[in-house]
Amino acid sequence: MRTLDQLNAAAKTVLVRVDFNVPLTAGKVADDTRIRASLPTIKELLSNGAKVVLMSHLGRPKGVDPSFSLAPVAPVLSGLLGEDVTFVEGLPSSDSTLARVKAAHYGGVLLLENVRFEKGEKKNDPQLSSRYARLADAFVLDAFGSAHREHASVVGVAKLLPSYAGRLMEKEVKALGRLLHSPKQPFWVVLGGAKVSDKIGVIRSLLPRVSGIAVGGAMAFTFIKAIGGQVGDSLAEDDKLELASSLLEEARSLQKKLLLPSDVVAAQKISGDAKTEVFPAFAVPNGWMGLDIGPETRATFADALSGARTVFWNGPMGVFETPPFDSGTLAIAEAIASLEAYSVVGGGDSVAAVNRLGFADKFSHVSTGGGASLEFLENGTLPGIEVLGGLTPEEV
Ligand code: 3PG
Repeated sequence: MRTLDQLNAAAKTVLVRVDFNVPLTAGKVADDTRIRASLPTIKELLSNGAKVVLMSHLGRPKGVDPSFSLAPVAPVLSGLLGEDVTFVEGLPSSDSTLARVKAAHYGGVLLLENVRFEKGEKKNDPQLSSRYARLADAFVLDAFGSAHREHASVVGVAKLLPSYAGRLMEKEVKALGRLLHSPKQPFWVVLGGAKVSDKIGVIRSLLPRVSGIAVGGAMAFTFIKAIGGQVGDSLAEDDKLELASSLLEEARSLQKKLLLPSDVVAAQKISGDAKTEVFPAFAVPNGWMGLDIGPETRATFADALSGARTVFWNGPMGVFETPPFDSGTLAIAEAIASLEAYSVVGGGDSVAAVNRLGFADKFSHVSTGGGASLEFLENGTLPGIEVLGGLTPEEV
């Protein structure tokens, strides 16, 4: 994978695709983790004398929608960088944007508007890619969180300009690559979230490499239902029961542990003030939904993890955004943080749990990628890595 080491950025205009897909609350940046993560690349390019033009998506707007503007990110980035950041309104591919970029000075930073305001962005439209390419002399991909997307601002433009991985891309690929190629055993994986269907690939890819996988979140109910458990009104994917059975069978034949919750915290509605009860995970009464892993499960999962030397965690154990159903996720964050292990966490809610507890520095790596980290662990590469030359075994 070509990196910044191969780019002489002096007096060049460098287009940098970052992932500033950050949460906004009342029009303000609610979590600046992804913005901070982009700083090493931006600082390095500036100190080498480049004009830095940043582009990103934010959310999933349907066309131009001011509530998805990247404008609120510019002052936050400026504060973190200690430099002025010029926000350029209008479509990134427009002639007016090109004129603003041309007029800017070397050593300066511009942030373009949301690339998903462009019609051809997600379709990887070649014409749009060439309009992006005319903005710069070189392209740097530092948006690890978006490197699984074959979009114009990720792979399209990378094919048209000399293109390189930024420092965040490099760091993520190294940290996640270690899980695939040299995990110290025992290696445990904790997976949560709503859907088994989102995690099939990563389960299949990791099963042969791990000691076990602990499954929480609503996806556990699909497994539980598949083996005849009563899940009441809990969320389960009825069309994925056979798939869940086959994953359990795969784990059995590989002699790997696939731990499911033994108890759950349940309620009759998803609400912070709902009455809660703990039920066996295999016997949730009708009218009740399992919304978090129960106390016994938290202890069992923590016990399984206790001897681990490598841990990967993705996905919440319950309805993390509605306390008290965040407790199981916080308990898992604490359990992993206390280990002397190589620990990697990825995905919005799991990373939010780690940050809420102030435990980011107790993890070996906090990934900025949710879907991207899962896809990387599934395939060992991503479209955004391939377009930069791909990886040799030594690089991961
Ligand atoms: C993410 O938040 O995982 C990335 O920014 C990708 O966003 P997307 O799923 O909307 O492409």
